[in-house]
Amino acid sequence: MNFKPYIRVIEDFPQPGISFKDITTLLQNGPVYREVINELARQLKEVEIDCIAGPEARGFVIGAPLAIALGVGFIPIRKSGKLPGHTIEADYALEYGKDKLAMHQDAIQPGQKVLIADDLLATGGTIATSINLIEQLGGQVVGAAFLIELLELNGREKLGPIDIISLVTY
Ligand code: PRP
Repeated sequence: MNFKPYIRVIEDFPQPGISFKDITTLLQNGPVYREVINELARQLKEVEIDCIAGPEARGFVIGAPLAIALGVGFIPIRKSGKLPGHTIEADYALEYGKDKLAMHQDAIQPGQKVLIADDLLATGGTIATSINLIEQLGGQVVGAAFLIELLELNGREKLGPIDIISLVTY
C-alpha cells in the first residue's frame, strides 16, 4: 500500500525551512493506520525481537501497536524528567532544537534483542541516542523501523550496521 497520500506535508513548521511530515492525517484513518502496523510486522517477521523501544512521543504511536502485533513488550524512551524510577539519560540534537532522552535503568535485561520504532528518521539523532542508551543497559539493537525516512538528511549513516526499514521516503 502507498501510505504517502495519507501523510500531510506542512511547509515552514515549526520554523521556516522545515517541511513537516504530519502523520495525524494517517493516524485518524483506522484501516490505513492498521495497515502501517501490519506492514511493519510483516517485514519484521523473520527478525528475532525480545522487545520494542520507542522514543516519545510519536515513537509511541508506531512502537506500541507494533509491539502488540509482534507479541513483545514495549519500552518508552522518554524526554528527561518524565520517568519516575532510576534512569540513565543522554543529550541529543534534533533536526530543530535539542533535548535529553531517558530510559529506566531496569527497562532492558542484558542481552535482550531490541528493535527501535519511530514515526520518522530525519537526522538520526534521536535513534543514535536511543541506541546509545539501550547499549548502555546491555541491550542489543537488532534494527530500527520507521513509517517515514527523510533521505536527504542521511540519518542511516549515523546508525551503524543495524537493519533499517521505512515504509515511505521523501
Ligand atoms: C521527531 C520524530 C523523531 C525525530 C526524528 O520527534 O518523531 O523521533 O523527531 O528526528 P531525528 O532523526 O533528526 O532525530 P520529536 O523530537 O519532534 O518529538 P515528538 O515525537 O514528541 O513530536
